[in-house]
Amino acid sequence: MPNYTNSLWSEAVPSTTYAPLSGNLTVDVAVVGAGITGVTAARLLQAAGRRVALVEARRVGKGETGKTTAHLTEALDTRYHTLISRFGVDGARLAAEGQRLAIEQIATFARDLQIPCDFRRVPGYLYAEKRSELPELEAEAHAIEKLGLAAALTGDVPLPFPVARGLRFENQATFHPRVYLQALVEAAARDGARLFEETQVVGIEESGSLCRVNTDRGVIMARDVIVAAGVPISNRFLLHTKLAAYRTYAVAFEQPAPAADALFWDLADPYHYTRSQKIGDRNYVIVGGDDHKVGEDEDTAVPFIHLENHVREKFGREVAATDYRWSGQIIVPVDGLPLVGRNSASTHIYVASGYSGNGITNGTLAAMVLSDQILHGKSRFTELLDPTRIKPLASARSFISENVDFPKHLIQDRLPHPGPEALAAIPAGEGQVLSLGGQRLAVYRNANGELSALSPVCTHLGCLVHWNTTEKSWDCPCHGSRFDPHGRVLNGPAVTALEARPIPDLPETEDEPRAPAMPGQEQATP
Ligand SMILES: Cc1cc2nc3c(=O)[nH]c(=O)nc-3n(C[C@H](O)[C@H](O)[C@H](O)COP(=O)(O)OP(=O)(O)OC[C@H]3O[C@@H](n4cnc5c(N)ncnc54)[C@H](O)[C@@H]3O)c2cc1C
Ligand code: FES
Repeated sequence: MPNYTNSLWSEAVPSTTYAPLSGNLTVDVAVVGAGITGVTAARLLQAAGRRVALVEARRVGKGETGKTTAHLTEALDTRYHTLISRFGVDGARLAAEGQRLAIEQIATFARDLQIPCDFRRVPGYLYAEKRSELPELEAEAHAIEKLGLAAALTGDVPLPFPVARGLRFENQATFHPRVYLQALVEAAARDGARLFEETQVVGIEESGSLCRVNTDRGVIMARDVIVAAGVPISNRFLLHTKLAAYRTYAVAFEQPAPAADALFWDLADPYHYTRSQKIGDRNYVIVGGDDHKVGEDEDTAVPFIHLENHVREKFGREVAATDYRWSGQIIVPVDGLPLVGRNSASTHIYVASGYSGNGITNGTLAAMVLSDQILHGKSRFTELLDPTRIKPLASARSFISENVDFPKHLIQDRLPHPGPEALAAIPAGEGQVLSLGGQRLAVYRNANGELSALSPVCTHLGCLVHWNTTEKSWDCPCHGSRFDPHGRVLNGPAVTALEARPIPDLPETEDEPRAPAMPGQEQATP
């Protein structure tokens, strides 16, 4: 079986090894999460003279930033003609300006810190493969013209297969994300920021003049806190109604000759994104896509099969077992723009999430916006990205469809699950949610054949987790929390592990599960 968690970026770039927090600490700003958002914010605030503590549950870049495909572009996942209809021409123009500022900020760091991350300016092509996709492409070209971006329709799209037409964006960019992130964090740490890895934040309280950041290793007191954990862990419910977690998939395969150095995005559903990257003397093509909502695909090997079929059909190439395959999480906001700013009802706690597939630029922009808000009390983007905004959220059609899912999972996931007869059938290295002895259990069989069980009830807000066979994780379909086979948190918003449970002694035959509980309440464990 291929390795499904082998990202191109992990090659030849060793992990960071910063020590965990030990004891208590007081700083000006605590930043939770060392991905692109947290590291960029830490660097900007430290460079402005603030005492900064950056706290990471695992290792720097082990979250989604380590899994990105790093297209740095003004071509947002939510098309500009949609953004204009929701935020007006000025709002959409400011959104585009934010992407440009982020690209230039990355270019500035790469240049000033001499980061060997292969940052380069490339064109980007949004393309219609079929004639039926042309109206969508033309609507976008029209919107782009209104906004004054440097992009134009073209019949010349440098892909190895025919396409109907493309919209070429000038002066986009790309880089090696892991090399960039590690150099940036090293610069911040060298110049005075405190960095703590393997330190999980379990709660944030705001009272009086200082916020209290509780971790599993000690307490950090800070005037301001930036929650850059991918999703807000400080907000139990409200913000999560505006966000949906999707998984997206990528493969990277070697090519004898370099492909066109450009970014490509198709208009298919599900869509694909493509680019090339040279590492050492090897030329790779990276193709991504096949997104689905977290916890909703029964077999997470299937999106990889779809991507491999796409590569075979379009590039005439088999993806070998030794090539790279990986997947990760993107957080989609219901109205198309990220949620960045003060958390609702907070004065000193800031959140940043909802980047869609543009999280490297949106994460950089979020760090710039939050730094400005903390340092200067304002940012030009405050209103546009305000996480408490109601309009146009309420009018976005997807607001309804995304948010029916939460109660759906609370109710539907209480329908019968396989019982004890399925226990023996769980292969080594796999897991399944079963109904055993009248209770639901998330059962995992390790490589030695030993079984262990957890409560399958997500510790965020109580949906039932699902097994992800390629990542070997328990994934929650409601707001995207993920847990390792032993229940430890991999992705928030959950901050607490799944509870360990004993596997009950089972009689020869098993009764049907008890009647479903009320939505929002898990059945009590006997
Ligand atoms: C396959 C794939 C392709 C993508 N392609 C692109 C692309 O081409 N262009 C683009 O712009 N974007 C892309 N993205 C999106 C982009 O990579 C992400 O949106 C972005 O990296 C998110 O950055 P972040 O800093 O918000 O989160 P992360 O990088 O996930 O960082 C959050 C960090 O917080 C830590 N954390 C979480 N909870 C806690 C806690 N309780 N205590 C302490 N630490 C905690 C996590 O361990 C993690 O390290 C892609 C994503 C994927 C998965
Ligand atoms: S992530 Fe919210 S209930 Fe699981």
